[in-house]
Amino acid sequence: MTDEGSNDDVELEVRLAEQDEFEPPESFVEQANVTDAGIYEEFEENWPDCWEGAADLLSWDEDYETVLDDSNPPFYEWFTGGKLNASYNCIDRHLPERADEAALEWVGEPVEEDNRTITYEELHREVNEAAAVLRDLGVGEDDIVTLYMPMIPQLPIVMLACARIGAPHSVVFAGFSAEALATRMNAADSEYLVTCDGYYRRGDPLDHLEKTNTGLADVEHGVDTVVVDRLGSNGDDFGHDLADDQHDYDDLLADHEGATVEPVERDAEDMLFLMYTSGTTGQPKGVKHTTAGYLAWTAWTSQSVLDIKPEDTYFCAADIGWITGHSYIVYGPLALGTTSMMYEGTPDYPTRERLWEIIEAYEADQLYTAPTAIRSFMKWGEEYPERHDLSSLRLLGTVGEPINPRAWKWYYTHIGNEEAPIVDTWWQTETGGHMVTTLPGVNDMKPGSAGPALPGLDVQIVDTSGEAVEQGRAGYLTVQKPWPGMLRTLYNNDERFIEEYWAEYSDTDSDDPEDWVYFPEDGAKVDEDGYITVLGRVDDVINVSGHRLGTMEIESAIVGVEGVAEAAVVGGEHDLKGEAVYAYVILEEGYEGDDEMRAAIVEGVEDAIGPIARPEAVVFTPELPKTRSGKIMRRLLEDIANDEELGDTSTLQNPEIVEDIRGKSDD
Ligand code: WTA
Repeated sequence: MTDEGSNDDVELEVRLAEQDEFEPPESFVEQANVTDAGIYEEFEENWPDCWEGAADLLSWDEDYETVLDDSNPPFYEWFTGGKLNASYNCIDRHLPERADEAALEWVGEPVEEDNRTITYEELHREVNEAAAVLRDLGVGEDDIVTLYMPMIPQLPIVMLACARIGAPHSVVFAGFSAEALATRMNAADSEYLVTCDGYYRRGDPLDHLEKTNTGLADVEHGVDTVVVDRLGSNGDDFGHDLADDQHDYDDLLADHEGATVEPVERDAEDMLFLMYTSGTTGQPKGVKHTTAGYLAWTAWTSQSVLDIKPEDTYFCAADIGWITGHSYIVYGPLALGTTSMMYEGTPDYPTRERLWEIIEAYEADQLYTAPTAIRSFMKWGEEYPERHDLSSLRLLGTVGEPINPRAWKWYYTHIGNEEAPIVDTWWQTETGGHMVTTLPGVNDMKPGSAGPALPGLDVQIVDTSGEAVEQGRAGYLTVQKPWPGMLRTLYNNDERFIEEYWAEYSDTDSDDPEDWVYFPEDGAKVDEDGYITVLGRVDDVINVSGHRLGTMEIESAIVGVEGVAEAAVVGGEHDLKGEAVYAYVILEEGYEGDDEMRAAIVEGVEDAIGPIARPEAVVFTPELPKTRSGKIMRRLLEDIANDEELGDTSTLQNPEIVEDIRGKSDD
């Protein structure tokens, strides 16, 4: 690098460091899907009919009668009386214009040259055949089909096949453990599973069927399993034979070549899918999303926030095993008829240029990723993206956790070349799609702050009594009115649905919707322009690399390890992951807190949940800080994990233990 170059860099750094507000680039605004700032007022005035425009993005078999039925809060219903099919909306209706255009661009792990372009016509064929396979297996409308696959094309194909026959899918992230699979299949009473033999990670084949089989051994009912062959002969070494109730996907497909299956007419409020997510207790929550509201929400936000147009090549680097992939790789983008990319693998294999190579090769128009990835890119250095032409990028997005202004600015300059707006999208598994974010063609951007609530949403930051807090003060994020993409309930557990999301700020005896407030369990503050800065979870959920993990789930995994008496898990700040898992463990008499024990605990957590939950540190201690009533004071453990000054210890029954633990943590 020349001296001149580095001077420029320094100048740029200084200029950016000082700037805390950015106008959307003009070249972007000129072509944006939404540019009229009047949309906020218009939606407020027309609420809830403002959502008719979102519903108009869909094709209906039968028109809906009512936009919102709020007669039984918080069990809101949207677009009632309407009938439609999600797979029809994501595929069939695009065929007249887009049959030969790519629906999915799949970039596989670069072990073999097996990237695939799947046109809308091919997607139509493959989804129909998959639907015929499922039907033939006995899958009926409303039977829940569990999908346990990595980022291979069969995952979205089978999801859409389920949607086609009205069978809700429940996708379990492939990196989750056997135990997590079993828990979810039992909770959903799911009698069908589509999985695969294995997949590649960093070039090596990984045995997925063994993990699947271990999980199936703990499923309490009979299961028909379909196994996708991902590895071909590279999986031979694993030596699996399929059991009687296990079927080879390709064999089944061969029997259904060219089959067509009529899309089933689904009621607007019929379940489209379940997605299990972590909560405060050990038991994951089965978030239920329905057909019309969810699809309208993801289509509308894909268009308004991600600025997707049919001719785009849109790249979301998330995994379909999480909600981001459901909403913004599969349903939203395909409902709009665009080209959605999916890639298998990791951003640093085979090199740290992986993402930039993909963007350059496919001329991606958007990139939607997570702060944890951006922080890694930043750490690796700008030389990797600089080697590639990223000028096709028109918009950048981030999701999953708060993004710090430095990472935001790095993303804006080094990936977007200051020509692509960034949307920092706050939302959750439960909200179905985006909730708080700028509209990229309308609002200025403020690094670190997600932005205003989307038009038609009433988001308020309140104190513990539910009163709006003053500007700039930290409070709790609440959503005061329903929206089409919201979860409808927790599967088979209406009571927990109310308890988890509504009880805090609602009058639960009231049937007046005004008395019902949704609480996502995030802390936030708001500024004079209504921009919301999300501060993070306020419950016992930690956010590791943008993935939600319940501390209780991890604790129960640790306590399950032989020799462990008690455990407390907290989130500590982490440069790359955002938060990391810190475990404080009391052992039973006769056990040693040595490396072996530490390894057993790490393994226990990986077995119960998956490698993403692996503790960053395991600290052995004779006691945990407890209040006089016996509650563990996690706050103090967080202070220790973050190496911060300790909070008030005066209410502890054993104040001396805190310094003791801190001493051990420094080892
Ligand atoms: C956090 C992921 C700050 C938040 C789509 C939320 C964010 C949880 C952001 C949901 C953001 C997500 N800024 N925090 N832009 N996006 N979060 O269900 O704490 O996996 O409650 O959905 O992630 O995680 P989930």
